[in-house]
Amino acid sequence: AEYMREALTNPGQGYYTRRGGVGGDFVTAPEVSQLPGEVIGLWCLSEWMAAGRPAAMQLVELGPGTGALTDDILRVFKQLASLLSKCDLSIHLVEVSPKLSETQAQMLTGGKVQSNPEDEAAYMKGISKTGIPVYWYRGIQDVPQGYSFYIAHEFLDALPIHKFQRTEKGWREVLVDIDPEAPDQLRFVLSPSSTPATENFIQPEETRDHVEVCPEAGVLIQRLASRIEKDGGAALIADYGHDGTKTDTFRGFRNHKLHDVLKAPGTADLTADVDFSYLRKMAQGKIATLGPIKQREFLKNMGVDLRMQVLLQNSRDSATREQLLHSYDMLMNPKKMGDRFHFFALLPHHRLTPPHKEHNLQSKSPLPPVAGFGELLLK
Ligand SMILES: C[S@@+](CC[C@H](N)C(=O)[O-])C[C@H]1O[C@@H](n2cnc3c(N)ncnc32)[C@H](O)[C@@H]1O
Repeated sequence: AEYMREALTNPGQGYYTRRGGVGGDFVTAPEVSQLPGEVIGLWCLSEWMAAGRPAAMQLVELGPGTGALTDDILRVFKQLASLLSKCDLSIHLVEVSPKLSETQAQMLTGGKVQSNPEDEAAYMKGISKTGIPVYWYRGIQDVPQGYSFYIAHEFLDALPIHKFQRTEKGWREVLVDIDPEAPDQLRFVLSPSSTPATENFIQPEETRDHVEVCPEAGVLIQRLASRIEKDGGAALIADYGHDGTKTDTFRGFRNHKLHDVLKAPGTADLTADVDFSYLRKMAQGKIATLGPIKQREFLKNMGVDLRMQVLLQNSRDSATREQLLHSYDMLMNPKKMGDRFHFFALLPHHRLTPPHKEHNLQSKSPLPPVAGFGELLLK
């Protein structure tokens, strides 16, 4: 975990802090198409309406990359401005990379930002092209409390994981060591005895022989759960992952190709699949969870096919149409992002279950379903 953290976010040499990464070594859904951002924007609005249109709403994005996703969400908010006219809207971005925060500032505000504002919690602030205040923070703990939507798209897979191997002597942690035969190379070794992480993170009922655990993701989910329980709102997590079934998923990418994770640390993206079953456990029943549901199902349930038809009808030339069809295939094809990426939501319990059963019996209007997690029915 320490190795992965240093390789990705070391202030001087970390992959994200130094290089930025997005686009050059890997490509993400918001970079491929405007559809995920538009759909996520609609999802937030639908939940905001179901909550009775609270007077203020924070959109919080964790690890925003180039800022493309928030930019697409803001376009939806602008198109539906009449709906949001009485809502005090603000954008809050959690980003460790100075390089990427500059890219985000350019994308969202045209570069008109103020660094080190007097508001100490935020390290930068500006106004979006659509007139909404935007703030940047280093961690979720700095983001103000309040009714919020938390979006984490390909964020949790970049958080450091511990790796454990079952041996005849019990569980051992996988560590990174300097190879004594070749001092300029690194190698994996097993801890000679059990480590504190082994004691804390391996469940007695574990049946796999190799396990990856991301405690930072667990802490993040606990923080989000407390905030959502107290202030309302929701979190939407989109990432590749599994439900507590996979084993060794730690890998590196450089120039869109697999890269040895131990070679030239800081020059390649390192990633591990998200364990959604662990996230559910970390929510500790404080809030409700929905999913994981495959990306292609979530997008279909959100009406992406209708949106695609409109985009195709409005496109003027065949090159644009081809580009639209190509990106749709990347997002929806089960062999591409369609089956590999999943959506997972955190919501207050009362969003799914009315607080009093009696109220449920008497209430004439049942709770509207949470968009995206059930089939879309057009009336
Ligand atoms: C894989 S990129 C995803 C970018 C974007 N969400 C997308 O899907 O295109 C991961 C993002 O998280 C940021 N990041 C990584 N570790 C972080 C951390 N510990 N705290 C805050 N941001 C982090 C990176 O700088 C980058 O913006």
